[in-house]
Amino acid sequence: MKTLLITGGAGFIGSHVVRLFVNKYPDYNIINLDCLTYAGNMENLRDIENAPNYTFVKADITDVNAINEVFSKYSFDGIIHLAAESHVDRSIADPLAFIQTNIVGTVTLLNAARAAWKDKMEGKLFYHISTDEVYGSLGSSGLFTEETAYDPRSPYSSSKASSDHLVRAYYHTYKLPVVISNCSNNYGPNQFPEKLIPLSIHNIKNSKPIPVYGKGENIRDWLFVVDHARAIDQVFHHGTIGETYNIGGHNEWTNIDLIYLLCKIMDQKLSRPEGTSRKLITFVKDRAGHDLRYAIDSTKIQRELGWKPSLQFEEGLEKTVDWYLENEAWLNNVITGEYEKYYTTQYVKR
Ligand code: NAD
Ligand code: TYD
Repeated sequence: MKTLLITGGAGFIGSHVVRLFVNKYPDYNIINLDCLTYAGNMENLRDIENAPNYTFVKADITDVNAINEVFSKYSFDGIIHLAAESHVDRSIADPLAFIQTNIVGTVTLLNAARAAWKDKMEGKLFYHISTDEVYGSLGSSGLFTEETAYDPRSPYSSSKASSDHLVRAYYHTYKLPVVISNCSNNYGPNQFPEKLIPLSIHNIKNSKPIPVYGKGENIRDWLFVVDHARAIDQVFHHGTIGETYNIGGHNEWTNIDLIYLLCKIMDQKLSRPEGTSRKLITFVKDRAGHDLRYAIDSTKIQRELGWKPSLQFEEGLEKTVDWYLENEAWLNNVITGEYEKYYTTQYVKR
C-alpha cells in the first residue's frame, strides 16, 4: 500500500489526476490536500469522495505548521504537487498571492518532504507539475523543448519558473528525488470559467460578449485535461529522477480560430442559427505582456514513456461543451459573488 499526497486536487487538473489515481490504483492511499481557494471545488470529486482509498485534507501549502502536521500524520511515498495560483490575469492584478503559493508554498512542501525522507530517499518521489509558460513566448516558428532556456514574462509564469528552479535545487543540493513536467494549455470539464474556453462557453450560452484580447492572434497548444492526467500517471511511475518532461497536444490554435470553432459547436448544440454566437465576439484591450505563442515538443515523453494525446481537438472541445451544458448547476455554483467581482474588474470596468 503506497501513500500518495496530491496537492491542489480540488482544482481543475488536480481533480482529474485524483480521480484517475483513486480509480486506477485501489491499493494506493490517496490524500488530496487543498485549501479550497476560489478555484478549488469539492463538487469536482463528488463521484469518488467516498472511495475507501481517498481522503481529503483542507490545508494551505504556505502554512508550515499545518503541512508539518500532515506529514507527521501520514508517511508519504510520493507527492504530486499541483496546488497553485494558476490564472495569468489574476497574477497581473495581484502578483504577491502567486509568490506566496507558487514559490513559498512549494518550498514549504519541499522542506517537509526532505525532513520526512531524510533517512531514506530511495523509492520516494516529489513530482512537481509545471507549465510551458516558463519558457516564455515563441515567434511564429519553433517549439519548446526540455532544453529551452527559461524566460518567463508574467508574474504567474515567473512564480512557476521559480518553483521549478527550487525543485531542481533540492534535487542537486539535498538529493531529494524529484521530477518535473511542463505542460501546455489544458481544457476540459471542471475548468474554472475565468480561462478562455469555459468563459467563452458560459458567455455564449448566456448571449454575453466573448472578450477576445487584442486581435485574437495569440497561439496556444491545447491538450485535453484527461490526457494530461494520463501523462502525469506515466511520469510519476516511469519518469527518470531529476528529469523534466514536456507535455503538449501538438495542437496549435490562434485564439480567434478556436473561438470560431467553439461558436460553430455552440450554435449546433444550442440549436441556434449558424453565425449567432460569432456575433458575440468582442475584441477588447490586450493582456499586458501577452505572450504571442506557446507550442510544445513532446517527443521526449512520447519516445521514453510511450505517452501520446488520445483525443483530437474537435472531439475534445465538443465533449467539453457537452459537459458544461449538462452541468449547469456546477457552473452556477462557481459563478459566486467572488467571480462576479473578478469579472467586473477584469472585463467590465476596463
Ligand atoms: P486551478 O487554479 O484550477 O486549481 C488550483 C488548486 O490549488 C485549487 O483547488 C486551489 O484551491 C488549490 N490551491 C491554491 N492555492 C493553494 C494553497 N496555498 N494551498 C493549498 N491549495 C491551494 O489550477 P489548474 O489549472 O488545475 O492547475 C494545476 C497545476 O497545473 C498548477 O500548478 C498549474 O500551474 C499547472 N498547469 C496548469 C495548466 C492549465 O492549462 N491549467 C497547464 C500547465 C500546468
Ligand atoms: P487563458 O485561458 O487565460 O490561458 P493562458 O493565459 O494561461 O494561456 O488564455 C488563453 C488565451 O486566450 C490567451 O492568449 C489569452 C486569451 N484570452 C482572451 O482572449 N480572452 C479572455 O477572456 C481570456 C481569459 C483569455
